[in-house]
Amino acid sequence: MKIISGPASKSLAEAVSTQTGIPHVPVIAKVFPDGESYVRLDGDVAGEKVAIIQTTCPPAQDGRLLQLAFLADLAKRGGASKVSAFVPYLAYARQDKTFLPGEGISVETVSRMLKGAGVDEFFTVNIHSEHSLTQFPFPAKTVSAIPLIAEYFVKKGYKGAYALAPDKGAMYIAQQAQVVLGGEAGHLNKIRDRYTGQTVQTADGLNVKGQIVIILDDIISTGGTIVGAAKILHENGAAHVFCGCVHGLLIGDAEKRIRAAGVEEIVGTDSVPGVVSQVSLAPLISRELVGTN
Ligand code: R5P
Repeated sequence: MKIISGPASKSLAEAVSTQTGIPHVPVIAKVFPDGESYVRLDGDVAGEKVAIIQTTCPPAQDGRLLQLAFLADLAKRGGASKVSAFVPYLAYARQDKTFLPGEGISVETVSRMLKGAGVDEFFTVNIHSEHSLTQFPFPAKTVSAIPLIAEYFVKKGYKGAYALAPDKGAMYIAQQAQVVLGGEAGHLNKIRDRYTGQTVQTADGLNVKGQIVIILDDIISTGGTIVGAAKILHENGAAHVFCGCVHGLLIGDAEKRIRAAGVEEIVGTDSVPGVVSQVSLAPLISRELVGTN
């Protein structure tokens, strides 16, 4: 087996290669003056099962998706016997159903595009809706990085902290964290207007007075959800507020706004490499890779 280091996840892929002992094939990548992507495999994959590790987070998620498709095609052209795509953050995963008439299901389109390029098997981390994987044209699996994030907070001394989901749909995330943190868990409620995108958050029977609270979510995008949750927590007397997310997209001034809302630390993973990506997914991906090798 060989690992192909996607240009968007080079460090992560190298860490997985080191942890598993599976050799990695570097990728030469560049962007042409007109903005088109170029990738070249710097190694042989003939007869090998290959695992491409490539996140598709912003910025340039469209380009990163294309790089992934090009790499899958290159692997197959180079004689790889099987192509597994390890995509820590899958772009378009939140458009997983037709919310308004006339909309498409972008995540399904993306999966079919990857199938056409040569992907045989797919892994991701905390996809927004696990159900969407059932519509993919190849075996697909999502694994959770929440225990790793909770362990990060335990190592920092926050054992016993309250795990809060910012909406009911994320309660399973809070419960996964609770197993590691050992404190209480609960959720807020969030209603989104599908036309304006505006959300309203409420807390029913929340008791966090004097507690250390960690807000946990799959994605932080604009930060609006976390800012709203932090405000409610402070109004309800929380002593300290932290936040952990798997995919810290942090679009625009999200980080600044979250900190201004009284969140003491934002912790994400290297599904989105950046200032908050303190938790590496390498152990999680290595475990999956060794299991499928
Ligand atoms: C939505 O349900 C997701 O789980 C996140 O809560 C959402 O994507 C966060 O978006 P934002 O940071 O823009 O509020």
